[in-house]
Formats: sequence, C-alpha cells, structure tokens
Amino acid sequence: MCGIIGVSGVRDAPEVIVEALRRLEYRGYDSAGMAIYQDGSFKRVREATGTHSVELLAKHVKDFQGSESVSGVGHNRWATHGKPSQENAHPQFDCSGRVAVVHNGIVENFAELKDELLSQGHLFTSDTDTEVIAHLLEVALGGTDRIDDALAEVFSKLRGAMAIVAMETSRPTLLACVRRTSPLIIATNGDEGFIASDIPAILGRAKHYYQIDDAVVASVELGEVRAFKLDHTEVEPREFVVTWDLTRAARDGYDDFMSKEIMEQPQAIRDTLAGRLQHWDTSGIQLDELRVEVEKLQRVNKIFMIGCGTSYHACMAARYAIESLCKIPVELDVASEFRYREPRLDEQTLVIAVSQSGETLDTIAALAEASSSGAVSLVVSNVVDSSMARMADSVIYTHAGPEVCVASTKTYLAQIVALELFAIYFAKLKGTSTTAELRSLASALEELAEKVGQLTNRFAEMVGVASKVENFERFYFIGRNVGFPVALEGALKLKELSYLPAEGFPAGELKHGPIAMLDASSVVVAIATRGRLWEKVMANLQEVKARGAKVLLVASEGDNETIAEGDAAFVVPETHPLLSPVLDTIPLQILAYHLARYRGFDVDRPRNLAKTVTVE
Ligand code: AGP
Ligand code: GLU
Repeated sequence: MCGIIGVSGVRDAPEVIVEALRRLEYRGYDSAGMAIYQDGSFKRVREATGTHSVELLAKHVKDFQGSESVSGVGHNRWATHGKPSQENAHPQFDCSGRVAVVHNGIVENFAELKDELLSQGHLFTSDTDTEVIAHLLEVALGGTDRIDDALAEVFSKLRGAMAIVAMETSRPTLLACVRRTSPLIIATNGDEGFIASDIPAILGRAKHYYQIDDAVVASVELGEVRAFKLDHTEVEPREFVVTWDLTRAARDGYDDFMSKEIMEQPQAIRDTLAGRLQHWDTSGIQLDELRVEVEKLQRVNKIFMIGCGTSYHACMAARYAIESLCKIPVELDVASEFRYREPRLDEQTLVIAVSQSGETLDTIAALAEASSSGAVSLVVSNVVDSSMARMADSVIYTHAGPEVCVASTKTYLAQIVALELFAIYFAKLKGTSTTAELRSLASALEELAEKVGQLTNRFAEMVGVASKVENFERFYFIGRNVGFPVALEGALKLKELSYLPAEGFPAGELKHGPIAMLDASSVVVAIATRGRLWEKVMANLQEVKARGAKVLLVASEGDNETIAEGDAAFVVPETHPLLSPVLDTIPLQILAYHLARYRGFDVDRPRNLAKTVTVE
C-alpha cells in the first residue's frame, strides 16, 4: 500500500506534491519521494526515515526553485519488496532516467520480468518490484512520446493488484495511470491535471473528479482526461461529485487524529444511523445501497462474516445479533484464511465482508472467492465506491467520515452499528424475531450515540484510570459472549499502539492454559458489565485474583459489587446486551491511547503498520 500523487501543469508542483503526500500518510510512510520535471530531465529527491519521511521531503522543496516545476510524481511507500531505503523509495526510473514511475501494490511476476530485463542489459538500482515497470516502459516507449500507450502494453504483462502513475521526459505534460484493484482517481482544474490514491490528497485544488475503472489506462494533459481499455477502445471518463471538505480531514486542534476520532464516535454513530431507523417497523430499515433482490436474500440459509483485524472483531461482535435475531447459522473467518479452507458456498449463502477502507487485499480476495462461487455478497465499507463496494452484490456504508489514525476506533463502532441494522432488516425480512425483540434493539440503537457521548466526555477521567497500570508490561483481556470480541479488540489496540504484549481470551478459557502466565507483574482487564454471563465472568475473576494479577475492570455504572472486585475500574452506561461491545470497547481504546503516549509513541502512526493493507 502507499500514497500516490501525480501532477501536470500545476504551478509549484513540489509544494503541491508534498502537501498531497502529507494527506496520504495514512496509506504508508516508511519512505517518501518525488520526481519533478525540470529543464529536460527529472530531478528526484527521496527520504526513508520511517515515520518522518514526508517532513524531511518537504525540506527539499526549496531545491526546486529557480526553474519551472509544473509536472511530477510523488509517493509514500510501505515497503513490500526491498527494505525501506532511499534507493528503494519511489519514484523509480528506467536506465536513462527518462521514465518516472510510482506504484502501489505488488508485481507478482516481477522476478521473471526482471531476469528477462537483466539479460537484455538493463541496469537496476533498487530491490523493488516497481523498478521493472520503469524498465518495461522504457522498452515499450521506443521512439514515441505516449506514456499512456506504453503503459497499456506494459500493464498487460504485470500480474497482481496495483496502481501505477507514470510520466516521461519527452512529453512531461502527459501523466498516465492504470490500476487493478488498488484505488486511484484522476482530477482536473482548468489546465491542471492530478492523479492521486485518494480524494483528500487533492481536495481544495481540483474541480472535476473522475473514477478510473480496473484495467483502464487514463491520462491527463493540459486538463484533458482520456481513458481507454487495454485493447485501445476509448471509454468515457466517469465524473463524480465530491462533497468532502478539508476541515473534516484535519486534526481540528486535537493532539492527534486518534483522540479526535475517539471523540467523533457519537457523531459517527449518528451519521451511520441517519435516515435508516425511522419507521423501521412499518417500512423496514432503510438501506438504500442494499441493491440485492429481496428474493435472493430470502433464500439465504447460512451467513459467513469475514474481515481483518478490527473489522474482524466487528464481525464477531455483531454475529451475536445476527444469530439471535435471524436464527441463522453464522460462521466467522479472518479474511486471509477464508478461501484457503474451501468454505462450502452456494447461492443460499450470504458472505458479509467488513472493511473500513474497502481496499484490504485479504478481504478483497476472500470476497472474490465468494462471488465466484455464486454466494450473495454484502460489503460494509466506510469508503464510498471502494473496490469492495464495487465488487459486491450489495453494500452498507458506515458514515464515520475519514479515519486517519492507523488504529481504527470510530469506524469499528460504526461497523457494529451498521451490522446490527442489517440484523434487524434481515430478521424482519425473514420473520424470525418478534416485533418486541426488534423494537428493543432499535430503541437501544437510537439512544446509543448519546451513551457513547457520555463516555467520550469522560476521556480525561478514563486516562486517570489507565494511568494506574502504566508501569505494567503484560496485559491479558478476558470476556465472555459479547465481551469476548471486546477483549480481542482491547488487546489488538494495545499491541498496535503501545507495542506491549497483550492477549485476549474468552474468560472461561483461561483455566485451560493461559492462567499459567499470571503473576503479580501482569494485568488482567476483565469485561464485567452486567450481561447474561456476568456471574461466570465474576467466577473467572476470582481465579485471576488468586494468582495475584492486577485487575482492571470494565463494569456497569453504579455496580459497586463488581467494582469492588478490581484494583481499578472503567464504568460504562448500561445498554441493550447486543450493543454492549460498542460501549465496552471505548475505555479500552483510551487505555491503549494512554499507554502508547505514556511510552512516548506516535499514536497515529504506529511502527510497522499502515492504514490500508493492500498486500496479501
Ligand atoms: C485496526 O486498528 C487495525 N489497524 C487493522 O487491524 C485494520 O482493522 C485491518 O487492517 C482491516 O482494515 P480494513 O477495515 O480497512 O479492511
Ligand atoms: N511493491 C512496491 C515496493 O515495495 C510498492 C509498495 C507500496 O505499495 O508502497 O516498493
């Protein structure tokens, strides 16, 4: 994964590119680079310093002063082939420096292509798969100056999911791109042309935005957009309207995006519910994008839910609602494992793929497998028109707004809410629950944003609770039933932000092995709100206390009996049992946030990670 930007005919191109890369940092940041066309050749600068590559790149903007700089390409890298280093950072060049390429994804057959190019005498200066694209373009260009035609020829030789932007020195006004699965958009403003991985990169600069379909080569020159398929049939560029504004993508005065996004959770829930719940009992839940025929859904007798990381935890949290309300078997799979176990799928199976970005390659691959076997597919995505949203039979968008922090917070809550809406919709369609049962969940959903707000307003108080365990270095999270996915999500948040060992278990499973690890130097975080299995969690807690571990609780407000059992407690308001994962997770987000900051880590950009993982 990475962030890509290309500009043509844009004044102060180096500054515009650096600004775009800043806004694209959520896609990767282990290196950053740009190549600007100046006086007949490309001038290239690259930095590979982990989390501060773009900041360092910005210092080079002044190197470009003095000559006209209106066209160029830039890139934030998340390395897949070759370590993060200046040589491996993009843009990558061909032998002569005529071609500049930025690339997102993996060229799966790069080794054989590289061998062939080496035998033809091409000289390589990096370990990346990307560099083969530059050399292949050099060959395909020959004596012509149409980088878009050359790109079409080269792209048909490349296997794998990717996005490419390329330009060359004999016609530097012409910027060309192509994609397969990885995102790219093209945009113009008068004579200016832009190509970027995402809208925020060029928000405020471009006026007209165009969608690029898979395997379509698109180019922009003097504000003119052209697109054609690999067989050279022309296609009409599809314009779309952008309603985002820049302020939504900025930090709004918060120290970091993570705290901003935690505080935005009530709004994320309100926006995800907006217009969907009214009159649910008469006209049903309003899910406009759910474009699959009702008859197809009615035939469904089994559901698979798939996702990665936090999105997988959202599946797990919502499974309880779907199973109990829709009386249908629901299987859960981590997306990267799903297709390798040969799941039994047919047209009576519904596969629900959950993804914030809608671009996670593991989930895309699993979804493709499901679609090819005839299963009905539904995607829950936060990004409108994402690759997954376009692939699936139907989609429910979470309207959480852009999430910049690598660790998911508001989109996780919104995913659970969207899936619970689907549970009500589907139960109503199938007639599997009483109106009273559905009403109780629907009313709880209506009150949810308010309760989430009560919690986020107590951010500082929760940091105080978290500070009681700031010197511990081993954490175990336990919960039962709907508390189990909360435990897993709490552990994941802590691992990815504070780099501390943390594991989540079903509380009843502790005694089957993990309890051997407990001693006075470990912390056990127990999800002990008043649910169906509260008594059982309390019994498991006694086992923990007997081993001397420090106990941190997530307990229901006013439940002094439970609170007395812990060394410290986060208290959360009561809600419908099926919605308790939404509330119970919030203190654990704040726990991870505080412990990471206490250790001096960058909460928005944890090491070794990227926001969107477009490699398998
Ligand atoms: C979340 O905190 C993680 N960074 C990660 O697990 C993430 O949820 C996962 O990579 C899936 O991403 P997606 O929702 O965009 O598909
Ligand atoms: N595979 C390319 C590389 O390793 C691109 C990775 C990316 O998407 O950033 O450089």
